[in-house]
Amino acid sequence: MEKKRVAILGSSGMIGQRFAHMLHMHPYFEVTAYCASDRSEGKTLANLWKLFDIDMDEDLGKSKIQTTDPKALAKEGVEIVFSGLPSEVAGPLEDACADEGMAVFSNASSHRMDIDTPILVPEINPDHLASIEAQRLRRKKGGYIVTNANCSVTGLALGLKPIVDAFRFTEVYVTTYQALSGAGYPGVPSIDILSNVLPYIKNEEEKMSSEGKKVLGGFSNGRFGDSPISIEASCARVGTRDGHLEAVFIKDRSMPTAEKIAKAFSSFRGRPQELELPSAPIQPIIVREEPDRPQPILDCDAGMPERAKGMAISIGRIRVNNDRLRFLLLVHNTVRGGAGGSVLNAELAFREGLI
Ligand SMILES: NC(=O)c1ccc[n+]([C@@H]2O[C@H](COP(=O)([O-])OP(=O)(O)OC[C@H]3O[C@@H](n4cnc5c(N)ncnc54)[C@H](OP(=O)(O)O)[C@@H]3O)[C@@H](O)[C@H]2O)c1
Repeated sequence: MEKKRVAILGSSGMIGQRFAHMLHMHPYFEVTAYCASDRSEGKTLANLWKLFDIDMDEDLGKSKIQTTDPKALAKEGVEIVFSGLPSEVAGPLEDACADEGMAVFSNASSHRMDIDTPILVPEINPDHLASIEAQRLRRKKGGYIVTNANCSVTGLALGLKPIVDAFRFTEVYVTTYQALSGAGYPGVPSIDILSNVLPYIKNEEEKMSSEGKKVLGGFSNGRFGDSPISIEASCARVGTRDGHLEAVFIKDRSMPTAEKIAKAFSSFRGRPQELELPSAPIQPIIVREEPDRPQPILDCDAGMPERAKGMAISIGRIRVNNDRLRFLLLVHNTVRGGAGGSVLNAELAFREGLI
């Protein structure tokens, strides 16, 4: 099979480097352009590597960064763009790539709430991919943008999907403990976070509510319909490196047993597992029985096979008390909640014949 030519935007950033790692030797895709701003132009990936947990492949490290020029990428035959751009610049650059006919898989928030753009989490809402048809019609060359959700939303929505379908709760309260890598590089000043917790992350709580409703909602007759679930979040930045921990609280008229809920989590599967997509974790939700798990340092990389490391979320401390349910979940913010989410989205689009 001839591999599709792809470009990474934001290659020098936290998400861009996860893309570089996950797309290296990918069975469907071949990275032919590593892009960033003119600040990084001409440097190699090895010069800029910031992922402490990944040994850089020698050949990958030699890849040179170029500036971000959508017209030039189209001329070079790039068909797919993975975007790890900050939202301040992503909007027009991603539009320009889609207008040049490329399929854009974005981590930025700029286009998430557009009326014809999906926030795709393939185990949850693979049917939302149909929304790109409207984009392909309005853009002259058939390109489109698919976004993935904010990193905390991705984890929460995956944790809610099995129980929402099976037990129909409508109100969710969540407190997050979010890792430093979630703020990009260099991110939060060290003096602000050392021996401290920051109880505010700009726009995060609002995103958890609005994006959660779209991800868990429906798509029919060419329109997205919000889920009736309300999500009330309190988001904090903590001094961990990777992995967002989320404490979830749900109250309803009646509550199934903790055992039933654990079974709904661990037996949950979706379209990526059905299609055996290369980056799909065999089991998307890992249930931990130990009283002190999940922990960011121990469970961030959950997911099998090797290519899907960090693509499963972990859930533990499932407690039911009469009509109340509590549990903790952990999502790798730059993998499942970031680059890996976009890679999985592109794999689904490819296998569905949309690239
Ligand atoms: N970190 C996470 O956990 C996470 C999770 C989900 C989604 N996201 C989203 O993913 C995006 C990237 O996040 P990040 O954490 O990787 O940020 P980051 O570490 O700050 O990286 C930003 C990247 O964008 C490039 N860039 C900045 N301005 C540019 C411009 N004008 N033209 C071209 N390239 C430009 C930077 O290149 P230079 O180095 O050359 O400046 C760098 O490669 C953001 O929209 C973020 O909200 C992040």
